[in-house]
Amino acid sequence: MFKIDKLLIENKENNVVTDVKNPHLSFSLISDRNDAYLESYNYEIYEGDIRIYKTINILNKNQIMIPIEGVPLKSDTQYSLRLNVRNNLGEEDSGKISFYTAKLGESWKGKWIGKYVDIPKKSSPTPLLFKKEIEVKKDIKNAYIHMTSIGIYQLFINAKRIGDSYFAPGFTDYRYQIQYLTYRDIDLVKGKNNIEVIVAPGWAVGAFTYKRNNAIYSDTQKLLFELIIEYVDGSKETIGSDESWKVATNHHVQFADFYDGEIYDAREMDINFEGVQIYKTPKKVKLIQEYGAPVKVVDTLEAQFLYETNNKLIYDFGQNFAGILEIEITEASKGQKIEIKHAEVLKDNDVFIRPLRTAKARLVYICKNGHQKYSPLFTYMGFRYVSISGISSENIKVKGLLLSSDLPNTGRLRTSNKDINRLIQNIYWSGRSNFVDIPTDCPQRDERMGWTGDIAIFASTGCFVFDMSRFFDKWLLDMNASQSRGGGIRWTIPYDKAGVPSFAISVWGDAAILVPFQTYLSRGDMNLLKRQYPHMKRFVNAERFWARFLSFSKDGRCILKYPFQFGDWCAPNEEFKEWTHKGPWIATCYYANSAHILSKVAKILGHEKDAIYYDKLYGSISKAFEHKFLDENGKLYFEFQSGYALALSFLKIDDNKKRYMAHRLGELIKENDYHLSTGFPGTPQLLFALYDYGEIEVARKLLLQDTYPSWLYQIRKGATSIWERWDAIREDGSINLGLANEDDEGGMVSFNHYSYGSIGDFIFKRVGGLSPIEGGYKKFKVDLRNRLLDKSELQFDSPYGLIEIKCDIKNKNINILVPVSTSCLLILPNEKEVSLSSGRYVFKDF
Ligand code: BGC
Repeated sequence: MFKIDKLLIENKENNVVTDVKNPHLSFSLISDRNDAYLESYNYEIYEGDIRIYKTINILNKNQIMIPIEGVPLKSDTQYSLRLNVRNNLGEEDSGKISFYTAKLGESWKGKWIGKYVDIPKKSSPTPLLFKKEIEVKKDIKNAYIHMTSIGIYQLFINAKRIGDSYFAPGFTDYRYQIQYLTYRDIDLVKGKNNIEVIVAPGWAVGAFTYKRNNAIYSDTQKLLFELIIEYVDGSKETIGSDESWKVATNHHVQFADFYDGEIYDAREMDINFEGVQIYKTPKKVKLIQEYGAPVKVVDTLEAQFLYETNNKLIYDFGQNFAGILEIEITEASKGQKIEIKHAEVLKDNDVFIRPLRTAKARLVYICKNGHQKYSPLFTYMGFRYVSISGISSENIKVKGLLLSSDLPNTGRLRTSNKDINRLIQNIYWSGRSNFVDIPTDCPQRDERMGWTGDIAIFASTGCFVFDMSRFFDKWLLDMNASQSRGGGIRWTIPYDKAGVPSFAISVWGDAAILVPFQTYLSRGDMNLLKRQYPHMKRFVNAERFWARFLSFSKDGRCILKYPFQFGDWCAPNEEFKEWTHKGPWIATCYYANSAHILSKVAKILGHEKDAIYYDKLYGSISKAFEHKFLDENGKLYFEFQSGYALALSFLKIDDNKKRYMAHRLGELIKENDYHLSTGFPGTPQLLFALYDYGEIEVARKLLLQDTYPSWLYQIRKGATSIWERWDAIREDGSINLGLANEDDEGGMVSFNHYSYGSIGDFIFKRVGGLSPIEGGYKKFKVDLRNRLLDKSELQFDSPYGLIEIKCDIKNKNINILVPVSTSCLLILPNEKEVSLSSGRYVFKDF
């Protein structure tokens, strides 16, 4: 048996619509015979049933992101592609995938429409309801829509919601690029049809960021719309948004924004429509068919009713997640007001909303008579508990809809330790909850911004757990758009007016290097790497500029400290001053790592000169760190865990010295009674640094530690997602708001922040055993030495197909699946190295 397993266009399996003129094909293969690899392939392109193109037989081993060439594609057309493959064993198969082209750059007939409404300071304007009635007189063959907005929209045709995504057209740097969406096979009736679009303020117009900036991109919501009707008689009509459309501000959705929630009045009402304003199409903006990973309902959760307190019903979903409620009201009377609050934790038997800071995270629903259902469409919350007032528990049913970018879950790992399994699950949940169109820091409080530092350290873990290709492809375009001339990277992306101008702030800015490189390693897309390369280079050059700034000695010019560094952000038992104090050590290590990665990328892309230059730079930074911060044995003059962890993982230092450094790191940890003390930047490297340089027992104890501060402490405390602070809930059960004085305003604590989940990278690589050697796991390593746990079972959907690694040390059983067209370097527990090509292998003797 030899089969095409997955067939993708633009990294998508179904419902592919694209504006890419030469869309990209990727495929994986399966075979029940060992040593199989792709030998040749060809593809045919069909328009309807008619074959319009066939390639010659292509002798090329690449299976990832192959540009479809040979025939110019027309806009708004359905095509299908038949792929015929042959392997080295003479077996053949073929498969088919269909895709639509969208506008392919054709101009829009619709006009941008909107209406200016006053926006109160730090708040969001009312959602706008746009309306157009059309009359269909002839028989329809086909109808489809292209549309987008500034703000977030939902489309209704004859009162039926169209599409299943949330927050379209998504969050991009609206100054440069806006996605538009296409809806096919629109159902219209003969006669009158009602088109309605609600555009809520969303990210572009609504209050967003911890500063509650509003009107970040526009001072009002706008809509751009086109309905194309093809009639049976061969004629075609386009109905675009224009002066004839109407708009209203008083309608059922009275208020909606991300932080404060939604107010919905379900009662019948007279809606006053007025004329729209016409806006010019901004010049610099490119409208591109959706190329990211849209937010959808990816799962549903049942709630458990806990109790009633002070006329409030308290429910528990048993899981912290990002999403919304769906409520079904079996009985209510007109005007009855239901209020729902969302929170991650309970305190004094009620939902505790102080960690949300200024975010109200509230739904207000005003009932009509009788049975009704409601779920908000223009907001989301991060929560586990809800309180509901205004109705009795018999009259309401509650469900949780998990909202997240529609990312395939690619990496799964189970071990013999149930707490580690829960930790892996929590990493999954924090990824799900924070990949909501952009990589956010947290899903609940008044932030949910694209903080670059958090994703910089979580990218490698995220790329194990999910297929991040489309998600990062989109986000990195926004990074490029807001990169400063000098190469600086903003703290938050897409641009949101918050933070400071972009400098070379380490870790946060290093996202420019880490995110594309990790995406390349896991998905193997050379196009992305090529596109990002100039931006990666500019960022390292910016780091170089700032390292040299006001420094005159040879070594000093390699130490990165200005203009500001976050340092050991969030390190336990310390405060901002201590975190930032450690800036130069941490920034210099990350700078070296970025130069190192850049030299590898230059090599992969064939830029030999750059490869040599950045490798040298990496060497000089490492040397400077050694001279400035380490004594001749390798002891840091100023010792701290993150300092050792990062120097060990990132710097080019003699191996003997490294062993001594690892020993010192081990000592520090022992002095701390086997507890970590790392902030965001040091955490992902801490266990690698110990384990890879011989301190395996310390690594094991640290991994399995369950008193504060440690990963398993939060598991013991019942966490269902990763906390922002190691002691978000203290041993005595109190909540750490991150305030010196509990009565102060503000604070900083979230129970769903993936940053410390960056340990996932270590767990997948060293517990699960899997690391990529070549992009897309074309070649990978399975290292099963020094087992930390008795048993592990890892599955990873690589772009070439499923990789499976089962290792049971006690029962002496190793079972490995290597996908077709890939190869694996296996290191057995007894240090023996074996090279494997595709197939399934069992080892009992090791
Ligand atoms: C966010 C972080 C972020 C940090 C940087 C916090 O408020 O939640 O995760 O990286 O700010 O300042």
